[in-house]
Amino acid sequence: MGKVYIETYGCQMNVADTEVVFAILGKEGYSRTDDPAQADVILVNTCSVRDNAEQRIRGRLEQFNVWRKARPGVLVGVLGCMAERLRESLLESGKVDVVAGPDAYRSLPRLLAAAAPGHPQIDVLLSREETYGDIAPLRLDGNGVSAFISIMRGCNNVCSYCVVPYTRGAERSRSWRTIIREACECAQQGYKEVTLLGQNVDSYRDGEVDFARLLALVADAVPGMRVRFSTSNPQDISDAVLETMSARGNICRHIHLPVQSGSDRMLEKMRRRYTRAGYLERVAKIRSLMPDCAISTDVIAGFCSETEEDHRDTLSLFEEVGFDAAFMFQYSERPGTLAARKYPDDVPPEVKNRRLEEIIALQNRLSLESNRRDIGKTFRVLVEGPSKRDPERLCGRNSQNKMCVWADTAHKAGDFVDVEVLDCTQATLLCKLA
Ligand code: SAH
Ligand code: SF4
Ligand code: F3S
Repeated sequence: MGKVYIETYGCQMNVADTEVVFAILGKEGYSRTDDPAQADVILVNTCSVRDNAEQRIRGRLEQFNVWRKARPGVLVGVLGCMAERLRESLLESGKVDVVAGPDAYRSLPRLLAAAAPGHPQIDVLLSREETYGDIAPLRLDGNGVSAFISIMRGCNNVCSYCVVPYTRGAERSRSWRTIIREACECAQQGYKEVTLLGQNVDSYRDGEVDFARLLALVADAVPGMRVRFSTSNPQDISDAVLETMSARGNICRHIHLPVQSGSDRMLEKMRRRYTRAGYLERVAKIRSLMPDCAISTDVIAGFCSETEEDHRDTLSLFEEVGFDAAFMFQYSERPGTLAARKYPDDVPPEVKNRRLEEIIALQNRLSLESNRRDIGKTFRVLVEGPSKRDPERLCGRNSQNKMCVWADTAHKAGDFVDVEVLDCTQATLLCKLA
């Protein structure tokens, strides 16, 4: 049937989806290749969350089109969020043979078989039920240490800046039984860590099983494994989830809690359903139950009508929380979203840029301070493999999701090792075997 190459952009959900696509195509006899020049089918699993993500992918499609022309018979397909957002217009360029949205991956074998020069195929139907719950993903993680498990799809929030509800459709939860089964299979295959994925994991519900219950079920089903999850929404993360975490040693002490802004005026315009005070209350609750829990966040600089005062509110919130890590973005207007329809994108690019730089500079200091507080502590880390810079050293993450490196020739990927922190950079804890 030929070789398939898939290039994946965007969030962890897309990585998990690529693993599902490989499984679906593998069943039909396709094999996987890591070399696009060898591939008979080139698929790009895409992200629409910001304009620069889309621009980068468009550049890649140009490149793939060169291969496609040089090697007749090679098919190029667009999957994921751009496929869903841009639909037929992706076909107009004549550079793409297949367009499949996030809920259409079961149709891929049919679409690929039917695609021919001048006859592109498209399926961008969104579903209220599809969770790919019965499909065992073909895992990409090379060293078999850490696996993603998708627990839900879609999003029912309507944050005004965000394109995800349009590209991923309505929220739906996967059956808890298939999730537990997948976690147990990961354990049997030698994986040491699973990350439960959803745009808003706290909204998970399958009958009586909510997210707190699911988390407990997974953690108890695979006691030898580490369990992580992402993403939590400040408006929904419940005490029950925090209590479940604090009662179990194998649920990692890290919560990704995107704040987006420190200004109540901006939060309201963004249609986030919490206030600055509400966010700080959740942070306080996390820390009272789990003093050693790391908290990371996402933030958007320069959302519509953001003033210097709003921006200073974001800086002061960062200072007050002292995030351990952050993903920081400039606002990018997305067509069709509520913000694009209602609010002018009126913060000048140079102002957005300067504000983002200020947030980054602050977070760099906060990350360094957070790491310095760890000097002298001992952590259990899960070995990922040799460090990139120095093959004599190993690297791996602690429960708080901080990257540790240490000199070691005795252990290998997948081992749990205790290390003591001697020094740090802003990005890494420099350790020795404890
Ligand atoms: N479901 C997750 C986030 C998904 S998108 C949540 O609700 O937290 C990941 C991050 O991209 C968001 O947290 C936000 O910070 C950023 N983002 C989303 N839309 C954006 C836009 N239009 N411009 C800039 N950043 C955006
Ligand atoms: Fe987007 Fe908000 Fe849904 Fe996150 S919760 S995916 S930011 S709409
Ligand atoms: Fe991007 Fe879609 Fe994920 S827009 S961030 S790939 S849900």
